[in-house]
Amino acid sequence: MSATIIDGFTIAASTRARVAEQVSSLKKSGVDPCLAVVLVGDNPASVSYVSGKAKALQEVGMIDRSIHLPADTSEDELLTLVQDLNADKTVHGILVQLPLPSHINEQLIIVAIDPAKDVDGFHPVNLGNMLIERECFLPCTPHGVLVLLRETGVQTVGAHAVIVGRSNIVGKPLSILLARRDCNATVTVCHTKTRDLGAMTRQADILIAAAGSPRMITADMIKPGATVIDVGVNRVSDATAKKGYRLVGDVDFEPACAVAGAITPVPRGVGPMTIAMLMENTLVAAERSMR
Ligand code: GUN
Repeated sequence: MSATIIDGFTIAASTRARVAEQVSSLKKSGVDPCLAVVLVGDNPASVSYVSGKAKALQEVGMIDRSIHLPADTSEDELLTLVQDLNADKTVHGILVQLPLPSHINEQLIIVAIDPAKDVDGFHPVNLGNMLIERECFLPCTPHGVLVLLRETGVQTVGAHAVIVGRSNIVGKPLSILLARRDCNATVTVCHTKTRDLGAMTRQADILIAAAGSPRMITADMIKPGATVIDVGVNRVSDATAKKGYRLVGDVDFEPACAVAGAITPVPRGVGPMTIAMLMENTLVAAERSMR
């Protein structure tokens, strides 16, 4: 048996194409959607994510207000920038790339962003509204995972979804979304203190690996036929690769393919979906600015 490969790259491309059409009609009504992407410092993974976002913005026809600040930018300077972007009517979405340098309090910056411009869906107002199923911006990676499941025809109703990882960005919000009435999954969240992780993951009809640990999910931890969604993006050194490293997920991909029913690859799985959902959120933020 060999798993169906869930092609996030293609699903993301069709999402971007739909967003591009809507951007073009929004522009005809006088609104030019604009996303401010703020990067502090030169974390190589962050630099690469930010350039992926810039490319997508260009493709869908939105304005890219990229702001790159030095690593020694103070918390106050960053707060002032966020406040300026909040007040700027030509900016519809604000994204501050995480992680921030350790001298800056991340949560302080996140709560400073106007929730109406928080296209990351990280502000407590958006997270709270997500919890009680009110209008909000959904966090992009969890939302992208839901779209992948839907587009692949994976049945979530009554399914046991096991999430490995409890980050604020992925594991925690995804656990809420999968348990909501629009998905109706039964959800288990595993983390570093979980006893006998394999016993948990082997119960999963849908296994979400979001721990940030290269190839930690081995084939023996997967129930035959399960859908495996790999959110991990880990750089591992590889002297034969041009850049000196290559990307691997949290799942040991090749052996897992022999057991899973369907699986996302890394790269070209969840990653492109995150960016596509960011484009969609920015479009929605621009549309709502007309209200
Ligand atoms: N760092 C890793 N993923 C993300 C994301 O989705 N948004 C932001 N702002 N930072 C990140």
